[in-house]
Amino acid sequence: MPTQNTHNPPKYTWPKNFLWGAASSAHQVEGMNTRNDWWQWEHEKRDRVSGEAANHYHRYAEDFQLARKLGATAQRISIEWSRIEPKPGVFDENAIQHYRQVLQTLQQNKMRSFVTLHHFTLPSWFAARGGFETKESVYYFTRFVKYCAEELGDLVDFWITINEPLVYAEQGWYNGIWPPEKKNTRLYFKVIRNLARAHRKAYKVLHETLDTTDHTVQVGFAHNPVSWYLYRPHALVDNAFAHYYDWFRNHRIYRLTKGQYDFIGINYYFHQRIKKVMPFSGVTYAKPEKELREVSSVGWEIYPQGLFDVLIDLSRYKVPLYITENGIATTNDTQRERFIEQHLAEVRHALKAGVDIRSYLYWSLTDSYEWEHGYDARFGLIGIDYKKDFKRTVRKSAQVYAKIMKQRDI
Ligand code: BGC
Repeated sequence: MPTQNTHNPPKYTWPKNFLWGAASSAHQVEGMNTRNDWWQWEHEKRDRVSGEAANHYHRYAEDFQLARKLGATAQRISIEWSRIEPKPGVFDENAIQHYRQVLQTLQQNKMRSFVTLHHFTLPSWFAARGGFETKESVYYFTRFVKYCAEELGDLVDFWITINEPLVYAEQGWYNGIWPPEKKNTRLYFKVIRNLARAHRKAYKVLHETLDTTDHTVQVGFAHNPVSWYLYRPHALVDNAFAHYYDWFRNHRIYRLTKGQYDFIGINYYFHQRIKKVMPFSGVTYAKPEKELREVSSVGWEIYPQGLFDVLIDLSRYKVPLYITENGIATTNDTQRERFIEQHLAEVRHALKAGVDIRSYLYWSLTDSYEWEHGYDARFGLIGIDYKKDFKRTVRKSAQVYAKIMKQRDI
């Protein structure tokens, strides 16, 4: 007797206007972003530098065409502030024209644009003035945002003011592994507060500059929520910690920016298993490899259901949710196929559970410079051969994703 396949749920057609595509950020793909703090830091501190990255600055049209061919209807990019404002108050007309062409190319390919204004890098002059450690940062950032709104506003569909404010502050001022490599809790909190201020001001400026009587501009920021598991759900102290940390890490940012986001951008990557909380001496987290759990090539646990969990959790803010990043670093492309299918299955569950989710943007469109991991972490739907003139190869996993986009279901 044939067995019934209980794993195949009935077919489901995704919302008509759901946006499919991928994401990237300027410094990670463009190449030769020589005027920002990361470039400086790479050259002072590291043997592996971003250099020409994926040469996307020159090959964006080819990359977007490949994405379009796969069936993408949206693409997330970022604007490199250090190109546009290489010196304080001096705006480079050629740089802005370049980004106009980039955005026009997306339009020609019938792809909606998500544009990030701060994706981890700062113009060197701004970093030298203290970056987001100072209150003045809000003024400088907003001046840049206003310029972008005026020059690019007609071509942008969704504005993402800041990418992952908490991760940025954590890596730069708490863990001290990204520029400016500080470990200073007071500054860490200060940077978060200034980023929230910068977002609020940018939100206002974008609306003031671009809203018309029949169109309201869409502005948000991208946040990286973590999904949690407690080994000792009965332990009061573990629960108290998880409760506090969940508020601090996943929700506080929405309090700091209350009423000033039109949508929530979700970058989902992390699941953490809290083994034990010991008051005053710390928290023990489980090591995924030790439990033979599936991990990516950078050691991050693969936990698709966490995406469902964060989607449900963030639906409480009653604004549309856009998945602005979700992806895996791996040299095993079958693992990437599985990753995409499994995560999209969770998105489908969340849609069926009534959550208003409007996009899935895979991270990333092409292989790219992966911050502290350099070029070993392969996230791309499209592989880059760094040794052979940046040759592009559309991976098989991209074809699997293409099929999903085309049939609008898994
Ligand atoms: C960041 C990307 C990064 C990706 C993978 C996200 O948190 O926005 O810049 O490449 O994670 O690490």
